[in-house]
Amino acid sequence: MQAIARRSRAAGRRIGFVPTMGFLHEGHLSLIRIARRRCELLVVSIFVNPIQFGPGEDFTDYPRDRDRDKLLCRRENVDVLFCPSNDEMYPEDHTVYVDETVLSRGLCGASRPGHFRGVTTVVAKLFNTVQPHLAVFGQKDAQQARIIEKMAADLDFPVRIVRGPIVRESDGLAMSSRNKYLSREDRARATVVFKSLRLAKSLLSQGTRQTSVVRRAVREALGATPRVEVEYVATVDDRTLKPVTRVAGPTLLAVAVRIGGTRLIDNVVLRPRSAPSGRGASYA
Ligand code: PAF
Repeated sequence: MQAIARRSRAAGRRIGFVPTMGFLHEGHLSLIRIARRRCELLVVSIFVNPIQFGPGEDFTDYPRDRDRDKLLCRRENVDVLFCPSNDEMYPEDHTVYVDETVLSRGLCGASRPGHFRGVTTVVAKLFNTVQPHLAVFGQKDAQQARIIEKMAADLDFPVRIVRGPIVRESDGLAMSSRNKYLSREDRARATVVFKSLRLAKSLLSQGTRQTSVVRRAVREALGATPRVEVEYVATVDDRTLKPVTRVAGPTLLAVAVRIGGTRLIDNVVLRPRSAPSGRGASYA
């Protein structure tokens, strides 16, 4: 992979990269299309990264379908499908890890200790192998995207991080490889996650700015659906990921729930609307 990257760079071809864990869906394909438009050599990786799964998490059950993934990548004109093995990525004597120490603490980091250390370590390795000019990450994993942006900035990776918007099913459920775990009944219940985010947006448009009011409404909406257990409902500054009490600038409303055994996350960025007089903050 490094030899391909070197040759491509020497020929002046821009390398675009979409790292994935496979079992590709429309969400991944949208990221692949964003990268395709902006580069000459498009690399997609598939690697189910063991070190970002905690004990008791779904590493062994994580859905895999390499043949289908290959077909989809071919259809999207992916130039290189990079699928390293566990042993290639983590030989027995692997001892060095990349750890972001602030943004990783809250939200998903609180309930999944070590998860983001696993993500930053594998993404750093993939960046060094693929040597991309730009890499595309999905907004569904907003905390992950922010941590990768910070890692690239702090460790001087010469790569531009691009975020791709969340892709949703027709009923609003954010696309995720893990949706496959949901039973038919739980799949129907899962739509409450998006509905709760929409409710939050409508509170904003009615003038609510206090985040405690927004969080309470979201928790109530989620709690009214059987089998939906709330892991967190958080309102944080979109860049620092620190909790905020008012929506005064771009504010990430992030939600994690469990439905049956399945953990789902989703989010929306809340922005204060222009004051009716035309004065005040405006975020188009
Ligand atoms: O978002 C994912 O699928 C994974 O966390 C990533 C970025 C491919 C790292 O394993």
